[in-house]
Amino acid sequence: PHEGYGQTWAKTILIGEHSVVYGHPALALPLHSLKMQAWATPIASGQQAQLEALDYSGSLEESGGTFGGLKRAVEVTLNFLHHPQQAFNIRTQSDFPAGRGLGSSAAASGAVIRAILDAYDVEVSREQLLDLTNQAEKITHGHPSGLDAATTSGLKPVRLAAGSMSTIQPQGDAYLVIADTGVVGSTKEAVEGVRSRFQEDPTGVGQLMDSLGEQSEAAIRDLENGQMESLGHRMNEAQVLLNALQIGHPKLDLLVETARSCGALGAKLTGGGLGGCVLALASTKEDADRISKALRSDGAQQVWLHQMVA
Ligand code: PMV
Repeated sequence: PHEGYGQTWAKTILIGEHSVVYGHPALALPLHSLKMQAWATPIASGQQAQLEALDYSGSLEESGGTFGGLKRAVEVTLNFLHHPQQAFNIRTQSDFPAGRGLGSSAAASGAVIRAILDAYDVEVSREQLLDLTNQAEKITHGHPSGLDAATTSGLKPVRLAAGSMSTIQPQGDAYLVIADTGVVGSTKEAVEGVRSRFQEDPTGVGQLMDSLGEQSEAAIRDLENGQMESLGHRMNEAQVLLNALQIGHPKLDLLVETARSCGALGAKLTGGGLGGCVLALASTKEDADRISKALRSDGAQQVWLHQMVA
């Protein structure tokens, strides 16, 4: 093998987080301007493989930190290629932070898997790549829905409902502004919290889930038809419902308000909640720039712009 290179992207959930766990549809978008890159360099047998990633630098075997699961990504790929004895040094470089619902874990696994496949000049089908990524992610996350793996390695928005995935073709131009509250929210904690509230009050929480599902279904149709104002309205509705599930955070609410008061068509949290990022929809570049500036001055740690094009 030679040195291999792999690339994936960040993702954001436009709508449908949490209710997707209960079988309703969700839509995630790849953010192609926020790259995750990985390099895999073959080393001689007997040498210890090293990992250099985000907040860790040292032996791959004992790797910890945010991307501690990458050892598994290397293993599943080498097993797949029937080269379990070959070792690689791994380096990753990311344009976006971890732990903010932007899919960094699946993106890092996907980039490393692509780098190792590249080192052997092997091309695999999309299904095979997703299967490898999900195998690697299973160790770190237990029950990944596969949405992150599919979105961070693909070109199109991904719709997931009741375990079945498809891509959609958006229409119309608009901008997404993604703002990081700087608060790390645990998706696991959020999902477990919702689960226990569902057990306490199946009727009430079930109704919230159904409403979220309806908004998501309609929002996906809006995006396919280029109905951006309606889409924004549904994002606002979803934010009310997500707060009712108690996965909000005052900093999320503050930034959502900022975006709306600066002309966003809609704004909501994105991902697991309890922190993480806010997503705002803007109809023009000028609106998006104005919203970004206001979000920054109201405390967003980082703000990214994404152009949605048909
Ligand atoms: O925090 P993220 O971006 O990994 O999104 C979590 C989405 C949930 O619906 C809350 C959980 C899930 O597994 O779908």
